[in-house]
Amino acid sequence: MEFKELVQKRYAARVYGDRKIDDEKIDEILEIIRLSPSALNLQPWKVKVVADDELKEKLYQNSMDQKHIAECSHVLVFCANTDLPGQAEKIINGMKAAGAPEETIKFYQMAANNLTGRIPPEARLCEAQKNVFIAATQGIYAAKSLGIDSCIVQGFDPAAYSEILDLTSNIVPTVLVLLGYGTDGPNPKVRFSKEDILL
Ligand SMILES: Cc1cc2nc3c(=O)[nH]c(=O)nc-3n(C[C@H](O)[C@H](O)[C@H](O)COP(=O)(O)O)c2cc1C
Repeated sequence: MEFKELVQKRYAARVYGDRKIDDEKIDEILEIIRLSPSALNLQPWKVKVVADDELKEKLYQNSMDQKHIAECSHVLVFCANTDLPGQAEKIINGMKAAGAPEETIKFYQMAANNLTGRIPPEARLCEAQKNVFIAATQGIYAAKSLGIDSCIVQGFDPAAYSEILDLTSNIVPTVLVLLGYGTDGPNPKVRFSKEDILL
């Protein structure tokens, strides 16, 4: 499918049948998510894949009565990793291990120090979350390209999710991508016109 067709056909699926997604397809979606772009390539995300019905039910109980969370095949809980300096260090270690030229490493280190220095610790969550939304978006189109429907969901209680999933404080639940085979069918796209969105 051409990308434009994917975009036209993807819709927020809110009713799912019983059919489960194969592990290979989930792996393929995760691989595409893994390749998402991020500021300074910091990749400040973690993804929890939830397929277990009991666990999905617990998440649903903390998600504003959104039944599609319990009924979809898989819930991807996209979390922001607020440890930006730690991510930069990981990248630098990777560059060193790959034998990158010292100049390149120095340049990256400077840019990373600049970013993490500019962003105080309390603003790191917001910075990480911007990148997480890009990865989640990549995930919904990856899914559609494999014939899988999805729904982005922000209506949930991050603190409750954190407790249920036993996450450390630097890993913050940010957005969900529900995956499955939708049985509700696409809604007509309601979008503002090009004239409306152009300044
Ligand atoms: C950031 C974000 C948060 C959303 N949160 C929810 C949600 O909590 N529950 C839900 O059913 N849909 C949610 N949606 C889906 C939107 O309602 C949907 O994308 C929008 O109405 C356009 O419809 P379409 O995706 O079918 O084109 C969310 C979408 C985005 C991008």
